[in-house]
Amino acid sequence: MAMRGVMMLFFQVLILCFQAKAWHAVRRSFELEQTAAHQEKPRNCMHVTSEEGEFSYVKLPPVRSTSKHGHWMPAPDASGEPTAGEPDPEPGAAPATVCGIYFVADPDQTVEVTMRQVNVDCRTGGLMAFVDGWELNGQYFPGERDHEKPLGLRVQEFCAERTGGPWPGKQGATTSAGAWVFRSSQNAALVQYRIPERGSFVLSARFHHNPKPCNIMAEGLAPYYMLRNYGQRRNCTLTALFPAVVSVIAQEVGEINDSVRYCERVRVDDKLEIGGSVGLDPSYQLVRASTICGRSRGRMDLEQTILCGTTSVRLISSGRYNNQAMVTMRMADESDLRLATVICEM
Ligand SMILES: *[C@@H]1O[C@H](CO)[C@@H](O)[C@H](O)[C@H]1NC(C)=O
Ligand SMILES: *[C@@H]1O[C@H](CO)[C@@H](O)[C@H](O)[C@H]1NC(C)=O
Repeated sequence: MAMRGVMMLFFQVLILCFQAKAWHAVRRSFELEQTAAHQEKPRNCMHVTSEEGEFSYVKLPPVRSTSKHGHWMPAPDASGEPTAGEPDPEPGAAPATVCGIYFVADPDQTVEVTMRQVNVDCRTGGLMAFVDGWELNGQYFPGERDHEKPLGLRVQEFCAERTGGPWPGKQGATTSAGAWVFRSSQNAALVQYRIPERGSFVLSARFHHNPKPCNIMAEGLAPYYMLRNYGQRRNCTLTALFPAVVSVIAQEVGEINDSVRYCERVRVDDKLEIGGSVGLDPSYQLVRASTICGRSRGRMDLEQTILCGTTSVRLISSGRYNNQAMVTMRMADESDLRLATVICEM
C-alpha cells in the first residue's frame, strides 16, 4: 500500500502539471488554482485519491485564519475542528477558486459519492458539482462522444440554500430525494467545489464492482488492462494522465480470420487506436501512434512510447464483433525517451 501511496503522489504531481482551468460545463469559467510544479507536496486544490472513505473540507473566513484555501481533514474527524492555516504562498489568489477531489478506483469499479453535509451557500457564490468522469481544462474523460450520457446529465451541480450548521439534515430527505447520492459510470469521478467565503462539506466515497467496464482511467499500477465492447456498438478508451509505454499483449478485434495488422490506411470499422493527446479527451486531438486490427493468436508485444500529457488506447467497435484487447501501460521514464513513437507538444 505504501507503494500505491508513492505512485499516487507521482500521479498527482503529473496531473498538476496540466495547470487545469476547470469548471467548463458551468455557466462561467474560473481559474483552478495554479500550483507550481516544483512543489513537493501538491496543495489542497486538486486532490487525487484512490481510497474509499469519508472526506471533509472546511473553509473559514479569512479573518481568523491565515489561509484562504481551507483544510483537508483526512477521514473520520468530521467534527471539524479547523486546523490553523499554513501561510498562503499566493496572496493574490482569487477567492472563487474551483477545486476538485478526483477519484480513481480500480478499472472494474465505479465510484459512488454520498454527500453527508453540504454547507456551501448558493447566495455567496458557493457551488459544488459531481462529475461522472474527470474534467480538466474543459475536456472530459470519458470524452463527450464516448459516454452513454450527454454532458448535461454527467455534471450535476448543487449548493445549499442556507448556511449555518450541517445541511441537509440527517439521512431522511437526503437519500429519499436521491439527489445527494451520485454514481459514476466508470472508475473515474470528480467532486468539484467553489467556496468563495466560508463553507464546508462532508462526503463519503464507496467503490462498487463494475461487471462491464468500458472506459478506464489508468493509474498505471495494474499489471494489465482489458478493453472490451461486449458485442456492442460503442467505443471504449483506456486513458492515462502521464506519458506511457503501451504494449498490446493480445487482441481480438474485427473479423475472426484476420490476423493482426496495421490498418491506418484501410477503411475498417473495428480497430484499436493507440496514441496521445495534450488534453484529457483523446477524441479531440489524438496524435495516433498506430492503428491495429485483427486477431492475435497467442501473445504479441507491440511496445510503443507515447510522450504526451495523456496516453490513450481506444477500442472502436461497430457492434458486429466481440472485440477485446489486453494492454499494459506503464509510466515512461528517461530510458524510454529515445524510443518515443509519438511526442506531443506540451
Ligand atoms: C466511435 O469512434 C469512431 C471514430 O472515432 C466514430 O466514427 C464512431 O461514430 C464512434 N462510435 C460511437 C458509437 O460513438
Ligand atoms: C476462415 O478461413 C477459413 C479458411 O480460409 C474458411 O474456411 C472460413 O470460412 C473462414 N471463416 C470466416 C468466418 O471467414
